[in-house]
Amino acid sequence: MTDIDKTVVVLGATGQQGGSVAAALRADGWAVRAVVRDPSGHRARSLSAAGVETVRGDLGDPESLRAAFSGAHGVFSVQPNSGQAGSDVTNEDEVRFGTTVADLAERCGVAHLVYSSTVAVGPTPTGVAHLDVKGRIEAHVRDLDIASTIIRPATFMEILVDPATGIDRGHLSFLMSPDQAMQFIAVRDIGRIAAAVLRSPDRYAGRTMEIAGDALTGEALAEQLTHAAGRPISYSRLPETLLAQDEVLRKVAALADDGRLAGSANLDALRAEFPFLLRFDRWLAGPGAGRLERALHSTDMGSASR
Ligand SMILES: NC(=O)c1ccc[n+]([C@@H]2O[C@H](COP(=O)([O-])OP(=O)(O)OC[C@H]3O[C@@H](n4cnc5c(N)ncnc54)[C@H](OP(=O)(O)O)[C@@H]3O)[C@@H](O)[C@H]2O)c1
Repeated sequence: MTDIDKTVVVLGATGQQGGSVAAALRADGWAVRAVVRDPSGHRARSLSAAGVETVRGDLGDPESLRAAFSGAHGVFSVQPNSGQAGSDVTNEDEVRFGTTVADLAERCGVAHLVYSSTVAVGPTPTGVAHLDVKGRIEAHVRDLDIASTIIRPATFMEILVDPATGIDRGHLSFLMSPDQAMQFIAVRDIGRIAAAVLRSPDRYAGRTMEIAGDALTGEALAEQLTHAAGRPISYSRLPETLLAQDEVLRKVAALADDGRLAGSANLDALRAEFPFLLRFDRWLAGPGAGRLERALHSTDMGSASR
């Protein structure tokens, strides 16, 4: 039996990163087992239809994870957003979830753990709780007796065409100033990189990799969005009035300013190692096209539903 005939457990498979990892692993021929909270839900059923085994489990229920990890070769670990507006997961929950997954993977004899952390995590804390918790999980993973790879994805390209950014009104506001570059990655490529790691475990065991597919200034974002949308889209940094009201957002913007959140992945080296990595214009014309279209028409849809 080659490793690729074995089972990889994917956390968060009904979400962005886990969904992309499950798809990439299936494309490579792995058996994939997704831990889902609701196996009868629409996203879990889509996974089943794509050949993914779905098992009921919850990050807050270690016994359900232990059962899911039984006999697995690999585990992909990602935790939900924590400590932010709209999330019922606290920062301490995230640490507990991430460390429990790693502990159980080790105890269940899993051969390789891939933990998805985030850009900006580094040797010193950032001062932003939802980023720093990932540093604590990383340290825990490194201390365990299990082969592991830590990936630190850059900011997702998907965020740039979220309807909430306002691009339907011809303008994008984001964290960096118009002439500052920031790195981004397509969620699709996180899955492909995780699959590449599991395909060549000896090459990636023990590595921590910041991953990104492109680096763009605000001005370049505006240019590429304008081209893809076929209508003008301008760019500015988030307004100072908004940053003044929101302490977390202000700290995150400061991390973009000082470069930590902007990212420092070696794009040339990554593109040589992972030739599939998408630049933003290719993402807009490919996997991101539907999302862009929906964002451009989000005002119409909002008014139609009122
Ligand atoms: N946005 C960025 O630019 C960026 C960049 C780097 C890193 N990150 C990190 O990415 C992570 C989020 O990843 P994502 O965007 O892929 O998440 P997502 O799309 O929001 O999906 C979250 C997933 O977690 C599952 N989940 C939530 N609570 C659970 C629980 N108690 N037990 C089991 N599963 C649970 C959800 O399942 P259900 O279907 O049951 O809800 C869903 O599958 C965060 O940690 C964030 O900090 C984000």
